[in-house]
Amino acid sequence: MAETKTLLKALAGEQQDVPPIWMMRQAGRYLPEYRATRAQAGDFLKLCYNPELATEVTLQPIRRYGFDAAILFADILLVPQALGADLWFVTGEGPRLSTVTTQADFDKLGPVSDIHEVLNPIYETVKLLSRELPGETTLIGFAGAPWTVATYMIAGRGTPDQGPAHLLRQENNALFEALLERITAATIEYLSMQIEAGAEVVKIFDSWAGSLKGDAFQKYALEPARVITAALKARHPNVPIIGFPREAGDKYIGFAKATGVDCVALDNSVSPEWAAANVLVDGCVQGNLASRHMVTGGQDLVDETRAIVKAFKGGAHIFNLGHGITPDADPANVQLMIDTVREG
Ligand code: CP3
Repeated sequence: MAETKTLLKALAGEQQDVPPIWMMRQAGRYLPEYRATRAQAGDFLKLCYNPELATEVTLQPIRRYGFDAAILFADILLVPQALGADLWFVTGEGPRLSTVTTQADFDKLGPVSDIHEVLNPIYETVKLLSRELPGETTLIGFAGAPWTVATYMIAGRGTPDQGPAHLLRQENNALFEALLERITAATIEYLSMQIEAGAEVVKIFDSWAGSLKGDAFQKYALEPARVITAALKARHPNVPIIGFPREAGDKYIGFAKATGVDCVALDNSVSPEWAAANVLVDGCVQGNLASRHMVTGGQDLVDETRAIVKAFKGGAHIFNLGHGITPDADPANVQLMIDTVREG
């Protein structure tokens, strides 16, 4: 069946004169309407687990800007929570989790079959969204990649260099690999349920893939992405998958072929010209405007946006930022980016 939605066309490999556009963290603190709904929910986690309010914040950027895709409002750290880790957010600092660094910690985690009990409200949000989204808007589900999720579970928080996770990987590799396997299995079930609830595309966020070097990248970034992709494709062959091995650098080359993902999302540390020559040859790419342009705006934003659209003109491209939009962004700059992309 020929696709009619612009995002699905790009994911099927179609070159389009105007690329579809959406933005990582498009529902977020830079929007006053998001801040109001979050206040109504009480806090961020309560917002994630409230299907009506999570649907509302997912729809806010669609109403305001008419993006071509909506991404489910949730968080990658809900999977560790569903596996039994404690999770809370410290205002102004970020997530905190109970740590997994010993066999005893690992043994306290629950089985994969138990995750849905916690994650059911997320599937409910997906169902509501698939009813309420405009017909032309594609619904994207997501999960964190096993390595990135493990870095938070091992350290109990975000870490600048993922040091604790690298340490466990070296000092107790069997435990590290058991943890990665548990997360991988949970991620397959979680994404599969999102798809059954109505997600049309899923994205796997490996935000810390860049700190895995050489063989470690193959084993702990590429291989889990391949396993998850193969399992999802076996159950849902027509649902496209976007991989995001952030800061993979030259390991972006061949990533789609090796893992089976339909599209590779690029961060802004690679130039669009380089990526067009080396990554676009494998199929669809997504990216990669630096998020700071959403803060600084002006002619630089316009010039850089045009350069990215032009560089990827020869292939299937989804316009996006290289990472999430930040809370200090100006909503007017988002409109300027969209207008620039759509000027054709
Ligand atoms: O993109 C979207 O709009 C969909 C929703 C989404 C969120 N987090 C909502 C969120 C998605 C896809 C994520 C992914 C996520 N979460 C990642 C991978 C992508 C990336 O950014 O690298 C990671 C590493 C996390 C973990 C996480 N969640 C951190 C480190 C933080 C704190 C940092 C911050 O920005 O505050 C969060 C919180 C979070 N997740 C917020 C949102 C909108 C802000 C919470 C708030 O409202 O205070």
